[in-house]
Amino acid sequence: MNLPPGLPKALALQVQGQLKRVEKGLAEATRSDVPYIQEAAGHIISAGGKRFRPALVILTSLLGKPDEKLAVDAALVVELTHVASLYHDDVMDEATTRRGVESSNLKYGNSVAILVGDYLFARASTFVGTLGADYIDLQARTFMRLVTGQIMEGRMPAEPGAALQHYLKVVADKTGSLIATSARFGGMVAGLPGTQLDALSAFGEEIGMVFQLSDDIMDIESDRSGKAAGTDLREGVLTLPTLLVLESQNPADDELKSLLRRPLEDEAEVARALELLRAHPAMDKAKAEVSRRLLKAKGHLQVLPSGKVRDALGQLADGVANRQA
Ligand code: IPE
Ligand code: IPE
Ligand code: MG
Ligand code: MG
Repeated sequence: MNLPPGLPKALALQVQGQLKRVEKGLAEATRSDVPYIQEAAGHIISAGGKRFRPALVILTSLLGKPDEKLAVDAALVVELTHVASLYHDDVMDEATTRRGVESSNLKYGNSVAILVGDYLFARASTFVGTLGADYIDLQARTFMRLVTGQIMEGRMPAEPGAALQHYLKVVADKTGSLIATSARFGGMVAGLPGTQLDALSAFGEEIGMVFQLSDDIMDIESDRSGKAAGTDLREGVLTLPTLLVLESQNPADDELKSLLRRPLEDEAEVARALELLRAHPAMDKAKAEVSRRLLKAKGHLQVLPSGKVRDALGQLADGVANRQA
């Protein structure tokens, strides 16, 4: 994980030290007596990833004086849950790559990819079971929301206004929920009071939204590592900017709206849709929405004890909004 560049050295070292223990724990979590399972379970974990959720757990745990082992275990729970959901997501999305390597559905087939996802969920359960009833309860509710988001993503209403609301709820459930829980788990390990835990949940949920909505904008604005601009358009996935365009009543938007409403036939159509979108005021509106949510996220931090860790959380939020990949 690229920690915020402005992090004080001692804090950065502390977080990195804990994240090393998380890496070791992840490798151990994929162990199986069956080498084939171990290989398939380790495939996406060893491919890397930002480890954003574990970093958030570790950082928020440092708002107090945490038991370091508990913080590592809580971080393992969220990353294992995340990776397991990626195994399932790639089956659903018929993905071919994940974290720069061949996706597991392609490498091992759908059935194995689904079952390995289940295997990792089971491993997450082992760790959460050692943390206690509060953690188990939150983990279960988070998992319910994540799955709800994944199910509802495919059930978008046709009416543009309703579709936008539906989309925002889907993003909150499938992405915001686990990031919110990551922030709260750290606070729980740190022994923070309820009002501060609620602030951490609200902060995490909002940066989860910022995380996804800035991704929507990047998909239109630029090519980035491993992902060409316009991937969402090619796949017919409607996101914040395109849903805003569909809400428009301006006849000048008719050409773009009709492109967004049907599968695009070739790269020339993708290029035309991108050209129209990049010049459309919906892009500025979408960016304003991301900035609004970033401010809201940082507002929640005011409830937390002031100091280096709180400052670092603010920087982390800025990094999520301004990320390039
Ligand atoms: C990818 O999450 C899936 C979403 C929730 C958008 P990340 O962008 O955190 O993926 P990794 O963990 O770095 O691979
Ligand atoms: C990833 O969702 C899985 C979850 C958030 C549970 P997406 O399908 O939107 O993300 P990528 O593009 O595959 O990482
Ligand atoms: Mg996907
Ligand atoms: Mg998906």
